[in-house]
Amino acid sequence: MNAREESDEILRVKDLVIDFAGRHRGQIIRAVDGVGFSVQQGETFGIIGESGSGKTTVGRCLVCLIPPTRGQVLHFAQDPFALSASELRRHRRSFQIIFQDPNSALDPRMTILETVREPLDVAGTGTPDERRRKALAMLERVALAPELAHRYPHEISGGQKQRANIARALVLEPRLIVCDEVVAALDVSIQADMLNLFADLQREFALTYVFISHDLRVVAHMSDRVAVMYFGKLVELGPAGALMTAPLHPYSQALLSAEPEPAPARLRNRQRIILKGEIPSALAPPSGCRFHTRCPLAVAECAQREPEWREVAPGRLVACHFVEPAKTVEVGRAGPPRAIGVENAIKS
Ligand SMILES: Nc1ncnc2c1ncn2[C@@H]1O[C@H](COP(=O)(O)OP(=O)(O)O)[C@@H](O)[C@H]1O
Ligand code: SF4
Ligand SMILES: [Mg+2]
Repeated sequence: MNAREESDEILRVKDLVIDFAGRHRGQIIRAVDGVGFSVQQGETFGIIGESGSGKTTVGRCLVCLIPPTRGQVLHFAQDPFALSASELRRHRRSFQIIFQDPNSALDPRMTILETVREPLDVAGTGTPDERRRKALAMLERVALAPELAHRYPHEISGGQKQRANIARALVLEPRLIVCDEVVAALDVSIQADMLNLFADLQREFALTYVFISHDLRVVAHMSDRVAVMYFGKLVELGPAGALMTAPLHPYSQALLSAEPEPAPARLRNRQRIILKGEIPSALAPPSGCRFHTRCPLAVAECAQREPEWREVAPGRLVACHFVEPAKTVEVGRAGPPRAIGVENAIKS
């Protein structure tokens, strides 16, 4: 990837579509449907959405674990899926993913040290002794005590396992890490420590993160920009601060209003928006705006016409018929989003 140092843009996703085969013959599940965004080097790009909205599928495609059905994922402006199998294997070292389940990347038959050393052994970098020392140094960096290095995964806690996963991802000196619900399985008491570790490592190793979570507080805490995903599509994207204090899309507003303390001060006065129903079946996407079956502001037009994905203020994109650019500026300055008349729709 020679364009690497010439561009600040580490990742670009263009009109990404990802289909899976359903259980029955000919059935197609469109998990991701026309998603696009870009990520700059060194930033943390958050993706938020309910379970089943397609976040993990996007994350796996970003690190080339699954190919796009349509559209493109570019790494430093180049298509990694165009690489040969061996080139892609080498290239993947720079684009890592850490999953929610701390056991997912740990082999129960390997000690923690062996697990962290394994990617270096496969890559064949340095001498065996150098690889061992590098793995030990990384375990120390993620604050795993040296005596844990020789334990097996079942002998350590979930938090310690997740630290081992981080060390395993980091030994290959990646440029970008997709963090998929990385604290969701951990005890609440250690989540903050873990998030701080991610933040420290980002500074130290100049990492770029794509931080995926269903937990708004996690994404808000970590991210520079946030994309909100609903049923395979992005519905809103913007700077984390602006999106958290003045969300534009009714779905983002509902997610935020459902947050317990500590919600941003301006939202505490707001009444909760109760979303009706579950996320629809992946086999039967709603017509028009996919959110219309649950949107408190939906009108007949919403079921007929899909809203465009539009930039309504610098760096703020949204897909809703009723968010208007001119009023958006007003929204940013003063109070809740009157542009879409949310007060009238909020349920008490
Ligand atoms: N391997 C797969 N085969 C079939 N359907 C899948 C597969 N992976 C994900 N899906 C479906 O794609 C949709 C999005 O899933 P996922 O990306 O895991 O969402 P999220 O991470 O937001 O919870 C869901 O309907 C899920 O059932
Ligand atoms: S387009 Fe209609 S249904 Fe979709 S978010 Fe906007 S108001 Fe709600
Ligand atoms: Mg997921």
